[in-house]
Amino acid sequence: MLLDFHIFVCHNQKSEVGKDVAKAFKIALKKQGLKSFVAGGTKHKSRVQTCSCLDVCKHCKKGSGAALVIYPAGIFYGDVKPADVAELVHEHIGEGRMVKRLRLD
Ligand code: FES
Repeated sequence: MLLDFHIFVCHNQKSEVGKDVAKAFKIALKKQGLKSFVAGGTKHKSRVQTCSCLDVCKHCKKGSGAALVIYPAGIFYGDVKPADVAELVHEHIGEGRMVKRLRLD
């Protein structure tokens, strides 16, 4: 299966906020019609799953949010809370724009 967007959310925090962030992604993708969609005559798919440490713990384990990476571009975001997810889905997946305030360099 070829995915256009594959989102990996670290769930390695004691608070387990990563699981909440991943759940928020699943809900937002569905709500915004971006889990499976057609754009420019091409079918696109998105998938989200939890994973272990992404090695950017300063922006994950030490704060109140989770780190995640979105492929195929491999863009990392940090300190992401469930409340940030709708914006990430709309901007990154829907519009192809990065969310600078959460992006890790
Ligand atoms: S614990 Fe989440 S990136 Fe390391």
